[in-house]
Amino acid sequence: MSQIFEPNRAFAKEARIKNMCEYKELRLQADEDYEGYWGKLAQEKLDWFEPFNTVLDESNAPFYKWFSGGKLNVTHQCIGRHLKTRKNKAAIIWEGEDGSRRIIPYLLLYYRVNRFANLLKNKFGIKKGDRVVLYMPMIPEAAFAMLACAKIGAIHSVVFGGFSAEALKDRIIDAEAKLVITADGAYRRGTPYLLKPMVDKALEEGAEEICKQVLVVKRNFEHIDMVEGRDFVYNDLINLESQHCEPEVMDAEDPLFLLYTSGSTGKPKGVQHNSAGYILWAQYTMEHVFDVKENDTFWCTADVGWITGHTYLVYGPLAMGATTVMYEGVPQHPNIGRWWNMIEELRINQFYTAPTAIRLLHKLGPDEPSKYDLSSLKVLGTVGEPINPDAWMWYYNEIGGGRCPIVDTWWQTETGGHMITPLPGATPIKPGSATFPLPGIMAEIMDEEGNPTPVGEKGFLCITKPWPSMIRNIWGDPARFEKSYFGDCKKDGKPVYFTGDGAMYDEDGYIIITGRTDDVINVSGHRMGTAEIEAAIGDHPNIAEMAVVGRPDPIKGEGVFAYVVVKNEEDKTSLLKSLNTIIIKEIGPIAKIDDILVVPGLPKTRSGKIMRRILRSIAKGEAITQDTSTLEDPSVVEEIESLYKTLA
Ligand code: PRX
Repeated sequence: MSQIFEPNRAFAKEARIKNMCEYKELRLQADEDYEGYWGKLAQEKLDWFEPFNTVLDESNAPFYKWFSGGKLNVTHQCIGRHLKTRKNKAAIIWEGEDGSRRIIPYLLLYYRVNRFANLLKNKFGIKKGDRVVLYMPMIPEAAFAMLACAKIGAIHSVVFGGFSAEALKDRIIDAEAKLVITADGAYRRGTPYLLKPMVDKALEEGAEEICKQVLVVKRNFEHIDMVEGRDFVYNDLINLESQHCEPEVMDAEDPLFLLYTSGSTGKPKGVQHNSAGYILWAQYTMEHVFDVKENDTFWCTADVGWITGHTYLVYGPLAMGATTVMYEGVPQHPNIGRWWNMIEELRINQFYTAPTAIRLLHKLGPDEPSKYDLSSLKVLGTVGEPINPDAWMWYYNEIGGGRCPIVDTWWQTETGGHMITPLPGATPIKPGSATFPLPGIMAEIMDEEGNPTPVGEKGFLCITKPWPSMIRNIWGDPARFEKSYFGDCKKDGKPVYFTGDGAMYDEDGYIIITGRTDDVINVSGHRMGTAEIEAAIGDHPNIAEMAVVGRPDPIKGEGVFAYVVVKNEEDKTSLLKSLNTIIIKEIGPIAKIDDILVVPGLPKTRSGKIMRRILRSIAKGEAITQDTSTLEDPSVVEEIESLYKTLA
């Protein structure tokens, strides 16, 4: 049984939720009157232009509606309403990789966003409901652009800057975006890199049919090509616009953004989040899970291209009127003390990062944190993948000084915000467990029919009631939305949201996430569909068949591993290299394969379906428990197993 760490008493005394009794009381309130619980929160937390008349509308399940009739604008929640009391408070503290800093107070953020919103309207003709793709580095203009879209009711779709031109093209086309906002480039590991040429390529290779306008923020002033009449420089235009802009009055259920994420099959899906429910949960979880206080400085290291960057770098901190830190570069530049130095200098109070970064910094410099004053820290957070007890203990002792609670937050792009997580002043924490669901979140571990799974056994992690920040749709594909999330599990005969994750209760009732049950892998906390990687490597002329699986990796959590059947014998090193060239082109460097195994054939059922579970088990070094007798050729499994042993 792993050790339990009780909350820090002094911290708990001042925390919003101070003990497990208070936590249980909130859970009880939500259990007894679900709509009343959420309705009260929405009334208290959100600054409505017009009040809502219904809390939850289930008439068209699973297309649930929250707070119908209510009118608001998310930027009023995030900026406008703070001007009375926080106009000179830092909203964003930005640090460039080269050490340069920009501090943007709420009033200036307001003006920046207004000018940007006017530019979108006046110069590019963007209106409510139009889609705008952002392909941006980690600079404040990325946040300005998101908020400018929200101000005028346009729907942003941020595409992570590490995705390739082809991936960008697919997302522009799927969202039918009218405009791409990008930057000339940025800095990474001390060297400049360019983003704009990727946009050129995406447009030239097919997206130009859909999107005919590009706005370029100059960040590093490298030479880039500009297409006359299509490409415009932000820096030249922004100050020509007025700094006043009325917010668009939005319905509670008007879409706020799309964010593409990987599924187990097919192309990435445009996860749609709507206005009121999303911002309510972003704010509530910021306040309660990180317990941020008025003068605190909050730092989430996630890139703005992922959901964590949306909710806990931009929307959540700003919604509650906090100070959010944005860092442009990598953690080990110019040295492995970079992040610890930033915590010391900026007096960071809450720090939120991914286990993969913790493992990397632990490995590179186990004693490095002791050289810095990290005493400002109050709460530490992790997200994106399971954290191994070793990394947890190092984080707890060396970064948190044994004094800071760790909130291991389990959630997903689709959930909008935290779902299962400790509350820092209340929950006794355990390394490797995300502990318990937040009050109002009906997370259950069960079988497909809704029967609870016994302690210690793996089951499906489901959320059995809708919640305000849940995914509303897959852009343009409602049938896929229903099938992907509400097609697998039922409770009381009614379809419920299945997360795609397996989980179990331990003997103390704590939730342990056991990982994805589908063909989605989690590499360095980045979610990837094996089907997408297979589609890319299938384009290699020498590949006859392949199957991609995740394989445990000491730093990345999971690495990408491929079994391939080749048409003609080929040197493995050169094959791996050429496969990765294709992957980088079609998806981006984050999906690169770590290793391959050339095999004579793949295990298939008689109907020709590849038995991927067997391949996953081999790559994980697990015993094969599946029945192989139904395979077309069972001997292939033994062959693959013995070839696999030759790899190490
Ligand atoms: O498998 C779970 C894992 O990450 C998946 C969601 O990935 P994504 O949509 O990219 O969002 C990541 C950031 C919220 C989940 O299905 N995951 C996320 N957080 C945890 C986790 N696995 C274990 N522990 C966590 N704390």
